[in-house]
Amino acid sequence: MRPFLAILAASLFAVTPHDAVAQDTPDGDQRVVLVTGSTSGLGREVALALGAAGDHVIVHGRNEERGRVVVDSIRAMGGSARFMRADFARLDDIAGLAEQILADYPRLDVLVNNAGIWLEGPRQLSEDGHELHFQVNYLATYLLTESLADLLRASAPARVVNVASIAQRPLDFDDVMLESGYSDGRAYAQSKLAQIMITRVHAEAFEGSGVTVNALHPATMMDTNMVLSRGAQARASVDEGAEAVLHLIDAPDLGTGGYFNGMQPAQPNAQAFDAEALARLVELSAEWTGGGA
Ligand SMILES: NC(=O)c1ccc[n+]([C@@H]2O[C@H](COP(=O)([O-])OP(=O)(O)OC[C@H]3O[C@@H](n4cnc5c(N)ncnc54)[C@H](OP(=O)(O)O)[C@@H]3O)[C@@H](O)[C@H]2O)c1
Repeated sequence: MRPFLAILAASLFAVTPHDAVAQDTPDGDQRVVLVTGSTSGLGREVALALGAAGDHVIVHGRNEERGRVVVDSIRAMGGSARFMRADFARLDDIAGLAEQILADYPRLDVLVNNAGIWLEGPRQLSEDGHELHFQVNYLATYLLTESLADLLRASAPARVVNVASIAQRPLDFDDVMLESGYSDGRAYAQSKLAQIMITRVHAEAFEGSGVTVNALHPATMMDTNMVLSRGAQARASVDEGAEAVLHLIDAPDLGTGGYFNGMQPAQPNAQAFDAEALARLVELSAEWTGGGA
């Protein structure tokens, strides 16, 4: 177990939330980090570790009760955190989350685009009419990063970490919303490749600003709701994935625009290097979100 996880475990059992000093604004020298989808699974693990290490953590998700538990756990360790609710199946909620952060925070040092779904069953649409995996996993990553870009620039050195996956499938630009040939695996894998593609686009856009953008596959089949709720067998622990995310947040000299498998630089699907595909993705993303370039 990593030292901070050991400290975290000890703190959680030693201190009740009632003992903690409530602190929901960062101190002047505290790093501010937003971890989307931190009410459970990988995001929660990363949020708890960052809170234990002294960062101010903006905990995000839809479920307020689970969000409160994460915030209370961070405060119980003497850390500072705050929950913000936003349903990424609604573009207005994504924009609203960004607006709230811009209104309340003078800086944002780290943005972890982690919230994600892999849902069994038939094709579902978001409230905005987009295929649901594409919106929650990818369009939210795109829109949040675009909306917070100036704040990240003003906070440089700053980092964006996009939690993608080794499951990657090229986008068919004639049917990105998968009106034909839908499967949940295909929907998930194309949304994850889109995250890696936009990582490269955003890295270039931030070039020279001190803001870096990298993507990763955290670990394969971690023991989280995403995997366990499907009745699948976990093959990795969430600790392993969290360690890989924390590596992209803190390790020196990682460069920008990269894709990592765990902590190792890796090659994503070839579509991530197709300039025409990248340009088309940017064009469609701006059109579909009403934001960005
Ligand atoms: N598990 C794996 O083996 C694995 C492997 C590779 C990559 N990943 C990636 O790792 C990330 C985290 O996955 P996980 O395994 O930790 O899954 P998880 O335990 O199911 O957590 C998913 C998180 O996303 C949030 N979320 C889901 N739908 C949302 C929505 N519509 N709006 C806002 N937030 C939403 C959830 O919060 P609420 O429930 O509060 O909404 C939750 O905090 C995902 O991007 C996933 O693709 C996972």
